[in-house]
Amino acid sequence: MSGYNQKNVYVLEHPLVSHKLAILRARETPPHHFRQTLHELSWLLAFPALQNVRMTPAEIETPLEKMTAATMCDPKPCLVSILRAGNGLIDGFSQICPEASVGHLGLYRDHDTAKPISYYSSLPDQMEKRQVILGDPMLATGGSAVMAIETLQAMGVSDIVFACLVAAPEGVATVHCKFPDVPIVTAALDRELNELSYILPGLGDAGDRIYGTVRS
Ligand code: PRP
Ligand code: URA
Repeated sequence: MSGYNQKNVYVLEHPLVSHKLAILRARETPPHHFRQTLHELSWLLAFPALQNVRMTPAEIETPLEKMTAATMCDPKPCLVSILRAGNGLIDGFSQICPEASVGHLGLYRDHDTAKPISYYSSLPDQMEKRQVILGDPMLATGGSAVMAIETLQAMGVSDIVFACLVAAPEGVATVHCKFPDVPIVTAALDRELNELSYILPGLGDAGDRIYGTVRS
C-alpha cells in the first residue's frame, strides 16, 4: 500500500505537517492555538487514514451526461475516538468525512501504572461490517490502543486503521506485536518514552494541552 513501510506504519511527511507539529510541540502554545492547529492537522491526517476506504461504483448523472462514479460503500466507515484526546483528531476526520458514523471509547491511563482504564463505550450498529478509523493523538506504551482494538475486535470489527499524531517506537511495537495487520498512520515517529511513559520529544499530555487542564 502506498506510503506504508514494511512495518505497516505510514508517517505523513509534508512541510505543512512539520510546521503544525512544531506548533503543537512548543510548550508555550496555548490551548486555543493547540486545538486549532490539531484541527488543521487532523484534516491532513484524514487523507492517509481514509486512503483504503471501501468504494463502490454508482451510476450518476452530471448536468451533461451519465457516468459511473466511485462512492463510499454502505455501511459507511466508523470514526472511533479514544476519549478524551481522540476527539481532537476525530472531530476533524468527521468534518472531512461527514458520512461516517462516530463512536467513542473512554479510556484513561492510570497515572501510577500507565495502564489504561476503561470508563465508557458508545458505538453505532453494524460495527462488524464497518471499516474503523481509530483515532488518538498519542501512541505511547500502546496500552490504550491495544485495549481499544481488543474492544472493537470483540464486536467483530476486522478492518481497523489506527491514526495518531505522535507515536513512540515502543507503542508501535506493542500494537504490532498483537495486531500486525492494523496499519498505523502517524504524523511523527518520535524517539522513545521517558520513565513516566511520556513520549520524547513528544508534546506533553495531549488531553491537557487540548483542554487546558492540568491533572495532579
Ligand atoms: C493519553 C492519550 C492516549 C494515551 C496514550 O490519554 O490520549 O489515550 O494517553 O498512552 P498509552 O499509549 O501509554 O496508552 P490519557 O490517559 O492521558 O487520557 P485523556 O485523553 O483523557 O487525557
Ligand atoms: N499520553 C500523552 O498525552 N502524552 C504522552 O506523551 C504519553 C501519553
